[in-house]
Amino acid sequence: FKVPQADNEPMKHYAPGSPERAALQAALDTMKQELPFEVPCIVNGKAVFTGKLAKQPIPHAHATFLCTYHEATPEVVDAAIAGALAAKKEWELMPWSERAAVFLKAADLISGKYRYRLLAATMLGQGKTAWQAEIDAAAEMADFFRFGVKYVEQLYAQQPEKNSQGVWNRVEYRALEGFILAVSPFNFTAIGGNLSGAPAMVGNVALWKPSPMAIYANYITHQLLTEAGVPAGVIQFIPGPAEEVVAKAISSPDFAGLHFTGSTFVFRKLWKDIALNLDKYKAYPRIVGETGGKNFHLVHSSADVANAVHQTVRGAFEYQGQKCSACSRLYVPKSLWEGGFKEKLLSETKAIKVGDPTEWGNFLGPVIGRFAYDKITGYIKKAKDAGGEFIIGGTADDSKGFFVQPTIIVTKDPSFVTLVEEVFGPVLTVYVYEDGDFEKTAHLIDESTQYGLTGSIFASERKAVLTASNILRNAAGNFYINEKSTGAVVGQQPFGGSRASGTNDKAGSISIFYRFVSARSIKEGF
Ligand code: SER
Repeated sequence: FKVPQADNEPMKHYAPGSPERAALQAALDTMKQELPFEVPCIVNGKAVFTGKLAKQPIPHAHATFLCTYHEATPEVVDAAIAGALAAKKEWELMPWSERAAVFLKAADLISGKYRYRLLAATMLGQGKTAWQAEIDAAAEMADFFRFGVKYVEQLYAQQPEKNSQGVWNRVEYRALEGFILAVSPFNFTAIGGNLSGAPAMVGNVALWKPSPMAIYANYITHQLLTEAGVPAGVIQFIPGPAEEVVAKAISSPDFAGLHFTGSTFVFRKLWKDIALNLDKYKAYPRIVGETGGKNFHLVHSSADVANAVHQTVRGAFEYQGQKCSACSRLYVPKSLWEGGFKEKLLSETKAIKVGDPTEWGNFLGPVIGRFAYDKITGYIKKAKDAGGEFIIGGTADDSKGFFVQPTIIVTKDPSFVTLVEEVFGPVLTVYVYEDGDFEKTAHLIDESTQYGLTGSIFASERKAVLTASNILRNAAGNFYINEKSTGAVVGQQPFGGSRASGTNDKAGSISIFYRFVSARSIKEGF
């Protein structure tokens, strides 16, 4: 059989008066009326109410909670591991067509029945506007599953080229022996679906620990996966404190792999903890992580200024700068900066409306929570103390929600704190270079941080594009030319970075699936 052709989910635009706007508004109204929800752990297909309660606040109105959830205890993690291993026996041996059908159905449920509920939960719980929620919880998540099925088909088709007389050689792509631990972040609902779903597509079972700040949207994702036919036990939903849930899972001899998106710090700590447990494991665990970034836009003097400005405003500020790929440092030549770039950048940034993301017309919502707000405002203070020139923003208000105004800081110091450290908020730092220093600036970008996630060059001269591309060869796993550093699309731009930004196993591509299978070569003589 052949799986269906994969196409990107068509995006909805939510124009005023459109049926999709009315449908999303209705979903939001219902959700606002019904909240707070109660979310259990889901182990072996059953709800587990541990009574160890935590809350997911609404970032734009933090006195209100979207849900109360039951945290997994160490006993629940043990039960989840045992149940997952039991479920794996059938799941991994199921014909591939059956597993493919489950995930194709999941994509259709995302695109149809669940779309507006997923979006509403992502908007309320994670502070996204309708458009930002659409590209994440609807489009990207459906794409992960539809393209994932296509990639798994391609993977399974990788077979030895030759058979000698009387011999049939083949390769079987086995699921890993044990379970996968999926640890997902708050900033994309779709990533939770992919971190747990991708390993499951190739026959693995997963324990899924979602971010405490994305519980409800991820819980809905788990529900739709169940409705699509993911059997009980194959993906265990176990929210809870990382120290307990993750530590317990990686100390199991059956731990077979980590599928992680989150901070560099946490990923490194986990990797070290895993190393300490290495002697316990049946097999060397696969460790796959997408972590931090300090993504750049480098503008050359030949750039189209209007485009570079517009892309920078979107790359830096959409979703409050909380995409792993967000542009947080901008390098502009003096001639352009003084010749209109600065004014354009200021006027586009001034036009941004900040507020409740569930209200139509707001372009920026709140940052995700208390910790993020304190960290971002802490960086703003550090930048002020260090003499950065604030040309806009620099203010914040947490009286009702965690709102930080879009902020642009100009510095002459190439190692200025917000130019080199990850802020993860709506803060853009600009470094203005002498026009003759283009190459030197590219080297500066390459050398001034430890990260290597995304970055863009803006230039119309081909030679400048090539120069930047060569110097910045290892500085970005996703490199953009005259395009912003955000918005990778599944099936179009495989996503991920190297250096301190991750293992670069490329979400949304075939590469990721190789990491969650263990090949068995079979030679059969007749
Ligand atoms: N994949 C997202 C982007 O490219 C970030 O996680 O913006």
